Amino acid sequence: MEIRAAVGDITQIEADAIVVNLFEGAEHAGGATAAVDEALDGAISSLIDRRAIKGRFGEVAIVHTVAKPGQVGARIVAIAGLGKPEDCSADRIRGVAGEFCRALRKLNCRNMATILHGAGSGGIDLQASAQAITEGALLGLYTFGKYKKPEYEDIEEMLIVVSEESSLPVLEPAIGKGKITAEATNLARDMINEPANYMTPSQMAEAAQEIAAKYGLEFKAFDREDMETMGMEALLGVASGSSQPAKLITLSYTGDAHSQRTLGFLGKGVTFDSGGISIKSSEGMGEMKGDMAGAAAVMAALAAIAQLRPQVNVTAVIPATENLPSGTALKPGDVLKAMNGKTIEIISTDAEGRLILADALSYAQKLGLSPLIDLATLTGACRIALGTLYAGLFSNNQDLTDKVLEAAQRAGERMWQMPMPEEYKEQIKSEIADVKNTGERAGGAITAALFLSEFVDTTPWVHIDIAGPANSSKESGYTVKGGTGVGVRTLVELALDEARSEEAV
Ligand code: BES
Ligand code: MN
Ligand code: ZN
Repeated sequence: MEIRAAVGDITQIEADAIVVNLFEGAEHAGGATAAVDEALDGAISSLIDRRAIKGRFGEVAIVHTVAKPGQVGARIVAIAGLGKPEDCSADRIRGVAGEFCRALRKLNCRNMATILHGAGSGGIDLQASAQAITEGALLGLYTFGKYKKPEYEDIEEMLIVVSEESSLPVLEPAIGKGKITAEATNLARDMINEPANYMTPSQMAEAAQEIAAKYGLEFKAFDREDMETMGMEALLGVASGSSQPAKLITLSYTGDAHSQRTLGFLGKGVTFDSGGISIKSSEGMGEMKGDMAGAAAVMAALAAIAQLRPQVNVTAVIPATENLPSGTALKPGDVLKAMNGKTIEIISTDAEGRLILADALSYAQKLGLSPLIDLATLTGACRIALGTLYAGLFSNNQDLTDKVLEAAQRAGERMWQMPMPEEYKEQIKSEIADVKNTGERAGGAITAALFLSEFVDTTPWVHIDIAGPANSSKESGYTVKGGTGVGVRTLVELALDEARSEEAV
């Protein structure tokens, strides 16, 4: 879909549809909505008076018009509910845009025009609104159409209409940024939704190579022999049950060649998690094709960063493997020696994410990357703790935590800081090795994070457990069913912030 800013009078735009809005509790239409209402001889006021529309967040009311020249140029007028003015935020506007775009696609609209939502009494600035509308539209309209023809045809064009010529110079870059971050999020969604037979570790490496070629990043992929040489027994242990070779992938963006500092983004890349010998029950196991959502998010974030070109260096480190049972598979009771020399007793082969991340974290530190941010669909326990709206955030550094939480807030991605009490480390003490790979069921997301911390020295590090929000079972706002691409926009915001800020963690 093409998205552009344009100057004009929304009532006069010739398009299949125009979009105006209404706040919850408003007794009268205001601004551009009032102008459209007037052109429609009070059709919107009458809906408000009859309480047929309430302006509730996510509500999309449709008025079919007979396009009358000189009155309204569009055959459909959509009135988007913005909710209560005091709750208005860029993230809500993103959700509203997702809702009205899907509603208009269902009505077979090819082109549409919208006003800027929330920019008046909603208190959102013009750029933020334009970026949110762009993102909401592109994210909300996303479909995974590779193996099935989509139900509806695409909307081809969206105009964001403003009345002042002087607004255009600030809107264009905002739309541009929105496009880059939304398209990157959709790239992550594509990788997550891809069935595991088409997203093997090798295919994941190819996808990374394509991103590198397209956006000018440096790409590397290490094979088993390289990993053996580096002593990555934990990663290779997980891979040993699969006939698909594991890969350790890196993507690097250099935006500040004079700086020694390079941020490290790590992503769990388990392209299918059957549990291994500690096999999962078959119900819902197919969802585990998305156990590489962390990897997809960091790869897509690098694609966006390469286009936005902030003055910062970033390297993504992605351990990619399948987790399958076989005669050569890792077994409970086995002991593995990770790259940093620590020995790990395997209790459950289904706690595989932390094993591959252990080696990836060691490798990232060997490269001197700092700070480190890892994203992983690590534990069902985190989803139980926080549900599907929030990712759990664990860290050894509060300044970095605050930065990541602020970036997430700007991106509209919800994250919640979780504790890492020393006492729970008891749970992962092993009789025969330095550490074991699982603790008790209660607090499982925390012991997983504590396990990871065994492989981080003093480098500032944040671990984000995205097992809850990585997948969505329903369509709502700018989220659609399937992979959500959570984390991409937070990582992009973080990189932009690092480039801006003087004070580094
Ligand atoms: N990939 C799973 C975690 C997961 C579960 C992600 C549900 C998304 C949705 C992970 O590898 C796993 O299997 N974790 C185990 C850990 C346990 C064996 C300690 C879990 O959460 O049950
Ligand atoms: Mn598992
Ligand atoms: Zn897993």
